[in-house]
Amino acid sequence: MSLKFDFLVVGSGSAGLTYALRVAEHGTVGIITKKDRAESNTNYAQGGIATVLDSSDSFESHIQDTLVAGAGLCKTDAVEIIVKEGPDVVHDLIAKGASFTRSEKGLDLGREGGHSANRIVHAADMTGREIERVLLKQVAQHPQITVLEHHFAMELLTEHHLGKLVTRYDNDTHCYGVYALNVLEDRVEKIYAKTTLLATGGAGRVYLHTTNPDIATGDGIAMAYRAKARVANMEFIQFHPTSLAIKEADSFLISEAVRGHGAYLRNSDGERFMHLYDERLELAPRDIVARAIDDQLKKRGDTHVYLDITHIPKTDIIKHFPNIYNECLKHGIDLATNWAPVVPAAHYICGGVVTDFYGRTSIHGLFAAGEVSCTGVHGANRLASNSLLEALVFAKRAALKAVEYTQKVALEHKKFPDWDDSGTINTDEWVLVSHNLLELQQLMADYVGIVRSDLRLERAFRRTKLLYEEVESFYSRNKVSVPLCQLRNIICTAYLIIRCAMKRKESRGLHYTTDYPQTDPNQAKDTVV
Ligand code: FAD
Ligand code: SIN
Repeated sequence: MSLKFDFLVVGSGSAGLTYALRVAEHGTVGIITKKDRAESNTNYAQGGIATVLDSSDSFESHIQDTLVAGAGLCKTDAVEIIVKEGPDVVHDLIAKGASFTRSEKGLDLGREGGHSANRIVHAADMTGREIERVLLKQVAQHPQITVLEHHFAMELLTEHHLGKLVTRYDNDTHCYGVYALNVLEDRVEKIYAKTTLLATGGAGRVYLHTTNPDIATGDGIAMAYRAKARVANMEFIQFHPTSLAIKEADSFLISEAVRGHGAYLRNSDGERFMHLYDERLELAPRDIVARAIDDQLKKRGDTHVYLDITHIPKTDIIKHFPNIYNECLKHGIDLATNWAPVVPAAHYICGGVVTDFYGRTSIHGLFAAGEVSCTGVHGANRLASNSLLEALVFAKRAALKAVEYTQKVALEHKKFPDWDDSGTINTDEWVLVSHNLLELQQLMADYVGIVRSDLRLERAFRRTKLLYEEVESFYSRNKVSVPLCQLRNIICTAYLIIRCAMKRKESRGLHYTTDYPQTDPNQAKDTVV
């Protein structure tokens, strides 16, 4: 079975939906998404969108803060784009019906680490949910857009599937859509399109502890890599300093905005410790705070530190952080009177599929936007609340060039073969999928976490290779399923993270290695695989 669209969008988070609404004025749009349409990292975003809206703030200051966080690897042009186009995308969301928190002076602008001004637009502590709500509502009303839920994109359709040898050095590879698993019907479909946007989000699930929901398995990065697109800067994994350290809470995020609102970090003796690491204290950039916590845990043999906001009135906490307050309460912690146990968890991937400033990848007809992409905005470390901003701005820009591209190509498709679905399902072997997933997540946490070394990376590399070989052999014999495809993608993403980390023989931004603790000015360049 096959479907055809002018524009195919893989993913229904902030990037995919923004792009879909733009291109829908120029042709038919199919959005495929692997679970329910709202399930995405976007939907869980708490703190907000960083943008300059206050007269006391300036574009220069936001640009400077972003460049400082990025530790010498940001592309300044990309940073200028998101900062200067930021206010428009926020006003556009408001025009679409987004209801952001207001104060008597206008929009209430929050503060987060690394920002030198209050510039975080937010909807209490559920900003992502509000963005998804508004965008999904518009999408549902658009006659040109079809949303296919429970459709899992497995592979990009390129000349490779027509028997041509495709390499990473070719400049004439094209994308014609995807093979997707229709989960409810249990069959693989070909979805043809003149252009395809990867908006598949991040890869937090590569790690054992992550703030990301379980859709974040690096599918877009792995698919693009297999199709021979260029991928870069995968070593820069951001660990959010404050995920709730309670097993049942599954690394629930406690927003940086809580520290922006005055919360303190304390060790198990109740002492504040951030002054030992950075003069910006709890509002230092995330990499510094996460490493400081890691250092405290290792030195003291503890499993968590504490976040203390008990000095803020209860009504104020509930007003600003209703979702966080309630989630903590569910686990027996009243933030007005108790300190919350917190620990760093994998949160965001700065690297991804390399794009230009219009979302174009190295494969013709393939665009990427949002967390899956590497636009050059974040460099070696993302500034808080810059990712929703990047997703919204670059999705809008990608739409411009996708429309142009689509107008130039005809919707005549080469005859791609049907997916060979002849494998068997051997239920006895399925334990391999869950076992290997856990093993991979554990080894990434142990060897490729906040602090790395050559020895740890080599160990991780050897073990990942074994897992890769085992899973590829299993994949070639078995029918495809979502857990199996996700495991392959997680292994591929882990491999790319390790490879990039091994290439970088210095410490910079989010990549810290005990073998090369200094930053080396000669290595101020992207790690392209
Ligand atoms: P997502 O929103 O993750 O959407 C990806 C979509 O792709 C989903 O619909 C998913 O189901 C789909 N998908 C994935 N793989 C496939 C496949 N194989 N086939 C079909 N569909 C697929 N950033 C900020 O700027 N501010 C914040 O306050 C903030 N808070 C955050 C809080 C949390 C808890 C988390 C996890 C992240 C936060 N971030 C924040 C980061 C930010 O939310 C994400 O970077 C951003 O939302 C990514 O948007 P996206 O559209 O690229 O991807
Ligand atoms: C948070 O609210 O702390 C998350 C913000 C972000 O990831 O940008």
